[in-house]
Amino acid sequence: MSFSAEWLRLREPIDHRSRDNALLAKVTAHLAGKDEPVIYDLGAGAGSNLRGTALSLGQRQRWVLVDYDPELLSAALEFLAAWADKSRPTAAGLEIEKSGKLIRVEVKRADLNANPAPWGGQKPDLVTSAALFDLVSEQWVARFCAALARDKLPLYTTLVHDETALWSPAHEADAKMTEAFERDFGKEKGFGPSAGNKAIGLMANKLQALGYSTELAESPWRLGAEDHDLIVQLADGWANAVRDTKAVSEEVIGKWLAARKTRGTTCIVGHKDLLAMPA
Ligand SMILES: C[S@@+](CC[C@H](N)C(=O)[O-])C[C@H]1O[C@@H](n2cnc3c(N)ncnc32)[C@H](O)[C@@H]1O
Repeated sequence: MSFSAEWLRLREPIDHRSRDNALLAKVTAHLAGKDEPVIYDLGAGAGSNLRGTALSLGQRQRWVLVDYDPELLSAALEFLAAWADKSRPTAAGLEIEKSGKLIRVEVKRADLNANPAPWGGQKPDLVTSAALFDLVSEQWVARFCAALARDKLPLYTTLVHDETALWSPAHEADAKMTEAFERDFGKEKGFGPSAGNKAIGLMANKLQALGYSTELAESPWRLGAEDHDLIVQLADGWANAVRDTKAVSEEVIGKWLAARKTRGTTCIVGHKDLLAMPA
Protein backbone atom coordinates (compact mmCIF):
# COMPACT_ATOMS: atom_id res chain seq x y z
CA MET A 1 0.00 0.00 0.00
CA SER A 2 1.46 3.37 -0.95
CA PHE A 3 1.00 6.80 0.63
CA SER A 4 1.78 10.16 -0.94
CA ALA A 5 4.23 12.56 0.67
CA GLU A 6 1.64 15.34 0.17
CA TRP A 7 -0.98 13.44 2.19
CA LEU A 8 1.54 12.77 4.99
CA ARG A 9 2.56 16.44 4.99
CA LEU A 10 -1.07 17.59 5.16
CA ARG A 11 -1.85 15.38 8.16
CA GLU A 12 1.41 16.11 10.02
CA PRO A 13 0.33 19.16 12.10
CA ILE A 14 -2.95 17.45 13.00
CA ASP A 15 -1.11 14.24 13.95
CA HIS A 16 1.28 16.22 16.15
CA ARG A 17 -1.44 18.11 18.01
CA SER A 18 -3.56 14.94 18.45
CA ARG A 19 -1.05 12.63 20.15
CA ASP A 20 -1.41 12.04 23.88
CA ASN A 21 1.08 14.25 25.73
CA ALA A 22 1.06 12.19 28.95
CA LEU A 23 2.33 9.08 27.10
CA LEU A 24 4.92 11.18 25.27
CA ALA A 25 6.12 12.54 28.64
CA LYS A 26 6.61 8.94 29.83
CA VAL A 27 8.75 8.23 26.75
CA THR A 28 10.80 11.34 27.57
CA ALA A 29 11.30 10.13 31.15
CA HIS A 30 12.23 6.61 30.02
CA LEU A 31 14.97 7.84 27.65
CA ALA A 32 16.21 10.65 29.92
CA GLY A 33 19.18 8.63 31.27
CA LYS A 34 20.56 7.65 27.83
CA ASP A 35 23.31 9.72 26.27
CA GLU A 36 22.33 9.12 22.64
CA PRO A 37 19.30 6.81 22.50
CA VAL A 38 18.80 4.79 19.33
CA ILE A 39 15.22 4.97 18.11
CA TYR A 40 13.77 2.80 15.33
CA ASP A 41 10.77 4.41 13.60
CA LEU A 42 8.82 1.75 11.70
CA GLY A 43 6.84 2.84 8.61
CA ALA A 44 8.50 6.23 9.01
CA GLY A 45 7.17 7.65 5.73
CA ALA A 46 8.34 11.25 5.31
CA GLY A 47 9.65 11.51 8.90
CA SER A 48 6.66 13.08 10.69
CA ASN A 49 7.05 10.92 13.82
CA LEU A 50 10.63 12.10 14.32
CA ARG A 51 9.53 15.74 13.97
CA GLY A 52 6.67 15.13 16.44
CA THR A 53 8.79 13.33 19.04
CA ALA A 54 12.41 14.49 18.93
CA LEU A 55 11.92 17.90 20.57
CA SER A 56 10.55 16.13 23.68
CA LEU A 57 13.69 13.96 23.99
CA GLY A 58 17.27 14.59 25.13
CA GLN A 59 19.99 16.60 23.48
CA ARG A 60 21.56 13.78 21.42
CA GLN A 61 19.52 11.20 19.52
CA ARG A 62 20.00 8.64 16.77
CA TRP A 63 17.01 7.75 14.63
CA VAL A 64 16.70 4.94 12.09
CA LEU A 65 13.77 5.57 9.74
CA VAL A 66 12.47 2.30 8.26
CA ASP A 67 10.11 2.16 5.31
CA TYR A 68 9.76 0.12 2.14
CA ASP A 69 9.00 3.16 -0.02
CA PRO A 70 12.25 4.75 -1.30
CA GLU A 71 10.46 7.92 -2.46
CA LEU A 72 9.08 8.54 1.04
CA LEU A 73 12.50 7.95 2.58
CA SER A 74 13.97 10.54 0.17
CA ALA A 75 11.13 12.92 1.10
CA ALA A 76 11.94 12.27 4.79
CA LEU A 77 15.52 13.47 4.31
CA GLU A 78 14.37 16.49 2.31
CA PHE A 79 11.66 17.48 4.85
CA LEU A 80 14.03 16.95 7.79
CA ALA A 81 16.70 19.15 6.23
CA ALA A 82 14.06 21.87 5.69
CA TRP A 83 12.81 21.49 9.32
CA ALA A 84 16.28 21.58 10.86
CA ASP A 85 18.13 24.72 11.92
CA LYS A 86 21.25 23.16 10.35
CA SER A 87 21.87 19.89 8.52
CA ARG A 88 24.57 18.02 6.69
CA PRO A 89 24.29 14.85 4.61
CA THR A 90 26.08 11.71 5.85
CA ALA A 91 26.69 8.32 4.22
CA ALA A 92 23.67 6.87 6.07
CA GLY A 93 21.34 9.90 5.88
CA LEU A 94 21.67 13.22 7.70
CA GLU A 95 22.94 14.94 10.80
CA ILE A 96 20.68 17.72 11.96
CA GLU A 97 20.52 20.36 14.62
CA LYS A 98 17.13 21.55 15.75
CA SER A 99 16.33 23.69 18.80
CA GLY A 100 19.55 22.63 20.51
CA LYS A 101 19.14 18.90 19.73
CA LEU A 102 21.74 16.97 17.72
CA ILE A 103 20.04 14.23 15.76
CA ARG A 104 21.74 11.61 13.60
CA VAL A 105 19.27 10.20 11.08
CA GLU A 106 19.69 7.01 9.08
CA VAL A 107 17.22 5.73 6.49
CA LYS A 108 16.72 2.02 5.99
CA ARG A 109 14.65 0.46 3.23
CA ALA A 110 12.96 -2.71 4.47
CA ASP A 111 9.66 -4.57 4.13
CA LEU A 112 8.25 -4.94 7.64
CA ASN A 113 6.00 -7.78 6.55
CA ALA A 114 9.04 -9.84 5.58
CA ASN A 115 10.92 -8.71 8.70
CA PRO A 116 9.01 -7.16 11.62
CA ALA A 117 12.29 -6.68 13.55
CA PRO A 118 14.55 -4.65 11.20
CA TRP A 119 16.88 -3.68 14.07
CA GLY A 120 18.52 -7.11 13.81
CA GLY A 121 21.36 -7.49 16.31
CA GLN A 122 21.51 -3.76 17.03
CA LYS A 123 18.96 -3.43 19.83
CA PRO A 124 17.49 0.09 19.92
CA ASP A 125 16.45 1.91 23.10
CA LEU A 126 12.97 2.48 21.69
CA VAL A 127 10.85 1.15 18.84
CA THR A 128 8.28 3.66 17.66
CA SER A 129 5.81 4.17 14.82
CA ALA A 130 2.98 6.49 13.85
CA ALA A 131 -0.13 5.66 11.84
CA LEU A 132 1.13 2.20 10.91
CA PHE A 133 -0.41 -0.57 12.96
CA ASP A 134 -3.96 -0.27 11.61
CA LEU A 135 -2.54 -1.78 8.39
CA VAL A 136 -1.32 -5.02 9.94
CA SER A 137 -2.83 -8.47 10.53
CA GLU A 138 -3.33 -10.39 13.78
CA GLN A 139 -0.60 -12.84 12.67
CA TRP A 140 1.83 -9.98 12.08
CA VAL A 141 1.00 -8.50 15.51
CA ALA A 142 1.97 -11.86 17.05
CA ARG A 143 5.28 -12.00 15.13
CA PHE A 144 6.13 -8.38 15.93
CA CYS A 145 5.29 -8.67 19.64
CA ALA A 146 7.34 -11.88 19.94
CA ALA A 147 10.34 -10.08 18.39
CA LEU A 148 9.94 -7.09 20.73
CA ALA A 149 9.67 -9.36 23.79
CA ARG A 150 12.66 -11.49 22.71
CA ASP A 151 14.80 -8.32 22.69
CA LYS A 152 12.96 -6.74 25.68
CA LEU A 153 12.32 -3.51 23.75
CA PRO A 154 9.89 -0.75 24.69
CA LEU A 155 7.30 0.31 22.14
CA TYR A 156 5.69 3.72 21.68
CA THR A 157 3.17 3.99 18.87
CA THR A 158 0.82 6.83 18.08
CA LEU A 159 -2.20 7.60 15.92
CA VAL A 160 -3.41 4.09 15.23
CA HIS A 161 -6.91 4.26 13.78
CA ASP A 162 -9.29 2.55 16.16
CA GLU A 163 -12.83 3.56 15.37
CA THR A 164 -15.08 5.09 12.83
CA ALA A 165 -15.08 8.79 12.07
CA LEU A 166 -17.97 10.90 13.37
CA TRP A 167 -18.99 13.43 10.72
CA SER A 168 -21.03 16.51 11.49
CA PRO A 169 -23.58 17.76 10.56
CA ALA A 170 -25.26 14.37 10.18
CA HIS A 171 -26.07 13.21 6.62
CA GLU A 172 -28.64 10.59 5.65
CA ALA A 173 -25.96 8.45 3.92
CA ASP A 174 -23.58 8.39 6.93
CA ALA A 175 -24.57 4.90 8.12
CA LYS A 176 -24.25 3.33 4.64
CA MET A 177 -20.96 5.11 3.93
CA THR A 178 -19.52 4.15 7.31
CA GLU A 179 -20.48 0.50 6.97
CA ALA A 180 -18.89 0.28 3.50
CA PHE A 181 -15.78 2.23 4.56
CA GLU A 182 -15.24 -0.08 7.55
CA ARG A 183 -15.56 -3.12 5.29
CA ASP A 184 -12.91 -1.67 2.95
CA PHE A 185 -10.69 -0.73 5.91
CA GLY A 186 -10.46 -4.43 6.84
CA LYS A 187 -8.88 -5.29 3.44
CA GLU A 188 -5.39 -6.80 3.17
CA LYS A 189 -2.74 -4.03 3.22
CA GLY A 190 0.43 -6.02 2.65
CA PHE A 191 0.60 -7.71 6.07
CA GLY A 192 -2.05 -10.45 5.64
CA PRO A 193 -5.77 -10.00 6.46
CA SER A 194 -5.91 -6.57 8.11
CA ALA A 195 -6.90 -6.33 11.79
CA GLY A 196 -7.81 -2.66 11.06
CA ASN A 197 -9.47 -0.99 14.05
CA LYS A 198 -8.82 -4.01 16.28
CA ALA A 199 -5.04 -4.06 15.77
CA ILE A 200 -4.08 -1.69 18.59
CA GLY A 201 -6.14 -3.59 21.20
CA LEU A 202 -4.74 -6.91 19.98
CA MET A 203 -1.22 -5.53 20.24
CA ALA A 204 -1.75 -4.28 23.80
CA ASN A 205 -3.22 -7.64 24.88
CA LYS A 206 -0.45 -9.63 23.22
CA LEU A 207 2.27 -7.54 24.86
CA GLN A 208 0.60 -7.85 28.27
CA ALA A 209 0.54 -11.62 27.84
CA LEU A 210 4.29 -11.41 27.16
CA GLY A 211 4.86 -9.63 30.49
CA TYR A 212 4.76 -5.99 29.31
CA SER A 213 3.01 -3.18 31.14
CA THR A 214 0.86 -1.31 28.64
CA GLU A 215 -0.93 2.00 28.57
CA LEU A 216 -3.40 3.06 25.90
CA ALA A 217 -4.51 6.67 25.38
CA GLU A 218 -6.93 8.39 23.02
CA SER A 219 -5.43 10.56 20.26
CA PRO A 220 -8.41 11.48 18.06
CA TRP A 221 -8.19 13.88 15.19
CA ARG A 222 -10.63 16.70 15.98
CA LEU A 223 -11.04 18.33 12.60
CA GLY A 224 -12.77 21.70 12.44
CA ALA A 225 -13.32 24.44 9.89
CA GLU A 226 -9.59 25.34 9.92
CA ASP A 227 -8.77 21.79 8.76
CA HIS A 228 -10.88 22.05 5.62
CA ASP A 229 -8.11 20.82 3.26
CA LEU A 230 -7.61 17.64 5.27
CA ILE A 231 -11.39 17.09 5.55
CA VAL A 232 -11.68 17.31 1.74
CA GLN A 233 -8.88 14.74 1.25
CA LEU A 234 -10.35 12.50 3.93
CA ALA A 235 -13.81 12.62 2.34
CA ASP A 236 -12.31 11.83 -1.09
CA GLY A 237 -10.45 8.89 0.47
CA TRP A 238 -13.67 7.61 2.02
CA ALA A 239 -15.57 7.97 -1.27
CA ASN A 240 -12.89 6.02 -3.18
CA ALA A 241 -12.82 3.28 -0.55
CA VAL A 242 -16.61 3.00 -0.60
CA ARG A 243 -16.62 2.90 -4.45
CA ASP A 244 -14.28 -0.11 -4.26
CA THR A 245 -16.83 -2.02 -2.18
CA LYS A 246 -19.60 -1.35 -4.79
CA ALA A 247 -22.02 -1.33 -1.83
CA VAL A 248 -23.26 2.26 -2.31
CA SER A 249 -24.56 3.87 -5.53
CA GLU A 250 -22.53 6.57 -7.25
CA GLU A 251 -25.46 8.97 -6.78
CA VAL A 252 -25.47 8.51 -2.99
CA ILE A 253 -21.66 8.75 -2.81
CA GLY A 254 -21.73 11.97 -4.87
CA LYS A 255 -24.34 13.64 -2.62
CA TRP A 256 -22.52 12.59 0.55
CA LEU A 257 -19.20 13.82 -0.84
CA ALA A 258 -20.61 17.21 -1.85
CA ALA A 259 -22.06 17.66 1.65
CA ARG A 260 -18.81 16.61 3.34
CA LYS A 261 -16.75 19.05 1.23
CA THR A 262 -18.96 21.97 2.27
CA ARG A 263 -17.15 24.38 4.58
CA GLY A 264 -18.35 23.96 8.14
CA THR A 265 -18.16 20.14 8.10
CA THR A 266 -16.35 18.77 11.13
CA CYS A 267 -15.09 15.29 11.84
CA ILE A 268 -13.67 13.30 14.74
CA VAL A 269 -11.51 10.34 13.75
CA GLY A 270 -10.72 7.86 16.51
CA HIS A 271 -7.06 6.99 17.11
CA LYS A 272 -5.09 5.46 19.97
CA ASP A 273 -1.52 5.71 21.25
CA LEU A 274 0.18 2.85 23.06
CA LEU A 275 3.20 2.73 25.35
CA ALA A 276 4.38 -0.77 26.21
CA MET A 277 7.30 -1.37 28.57
CA PRO A 278 8.98 -4.74 29.09
CA ALA A 279 9.06 -6.12 32.63
C1 LIG B 1 0.06 6.06 7.06
S1 LIG B 1 1.73 6.06 6.61
C2 LIG B 1 2.49 6.77 8.06
C3 LIG B 1 3.83 7.39 7.79
C4 LIG B 1 4.47 8.13 8.98
N1 LIG B 1 4.71 7.22 10.08
C5 LIG B 1 3.65 9.30 9.42
O1 LIG B 1 3.17 9.30 10.56
O2 LIG B 1 3.46 10.24 8.62
C6 LIG B 1 2.24 4.35 6.71
C7 LIG B 1 3.68 4.13 6.32
O3 LIG B 1 3.99 2.74 6.42
C8 LIG B 1 4.77 2.35 5.32
N2 LIG B 1 4.57 0.91 5.11
C9 LIG B 1 3.42 0.28 4.82
N3 LIG B 1 3.62 -1.03 4.67
C10 LIG B 1 4.95 -1.25 4.91
C11 LIG B 1 5.79 -2.41 4.90
N4 LIG B 1 5.30 -3.62 4.63
N5 LIG B 1 7.10 -2.24 5.17
C12 LIG B 1 7.62 -1.01 5.43
N6 LIG B 1 6.87 0.12 5.44
C13 LIG B 1 5.55 0.00 5.18
C14 LIG B 1 4.25 3.21 4.17
O4 LIG B 1 5.19 3.31 3.10
C15 LIG B 1 4.00 4.53 4.88
O5 LIG B 1 5.14 5.34 4.88
